[in-house]
Amino acid sequence: MTTRRTLVAANWKMNGNKETVASLLTAFKSGMNGSSDVAVFPPALYVAQAAELLKDTDIAYGVQNVSAEASGAFTGELSLSMVKEFDCQYALIGHSERRELFGETDAQIAQKVKATLESGVIPMLCIGETLAQRESGVTEDVVRTQIQAVLDAVGIAAFDTIVVAYEPVWAIGTGKTASPEQAQEVHAFIRGMLAAEDAAVAAKTRILYGGSVKAASAEALFGQPDIDGGLVGGASLIADEFVAICNAAK
Ligand code: G3P
Repeated sequence: MTTRRTLVAANWKMNGNKETVASLLTAFKSGMNGSSDVAVFPPALYVAQAAELLKDTDIAYGVQNVSAEASGAFTGELSLSMVKEFDCQYALIGHSERRELFGETDAQIAQKVKATLESGVIPMLCIGETLAQRESGVTEDVVRTQIQAVLDAVGIAAFDTIVVAYEPVWAIGTGKTASPEQAQEVHAFIRGMLAAEDAAVAAKTRILYGGSVKAASAEALFGQPDIDGGLVGGASLIADEFVAICNAAK
């Protein structure tokens, strides 16, 4: 049976400053019990500081968004060559806030995943349904479309590398964590969709849950057969809370 090591990632979004970056990462470095892999996504301006603070640790780091373009007149964007220059291991792609607030489409996200894979950086692909979509009973249709766009662009073998983060939009920042059973149901659907293409790859793909993960809910979530860790927002800005989430893995 394939065992997948738990991965817990901190998405700090547009929060923090040099002082909080230093204090949080110092706490993360000393508090982890080694039961999970850990990654941190600071705001891009603090990646260099994070790289320096994390250089002698196993804690990975990355950026919250990338451009699919190699370079050029794309004001405000980050290229993958720039991301690689700071030795980022990961890039968050397709976060619901990018989709909702910045209009990123499934096609654009698929091209970002493709460019990220080609650069050697690991894509963390964010998917998930809105409350209206869940209440309409189309959760699986939404997730299928989001995954299929990436499968069409990069193929199933790429999911040997891609990390998937299922984040029901209605649970993000709301305090309404999906129940372990609700999350497991969608995670199993995602894994089943990948398994229909290649069972061996699907068995290895890490599928994280995101949406109001807290220390109190982490163990039950991570104990589900198809939940391989978490993508944590608000709670990752509180050192003890995030360390407790990371240490909840068995
Ligand atoms: O990317 C993780 C984020 O969307 C989840 O946020 O605050 O609900 O843990 P939060």
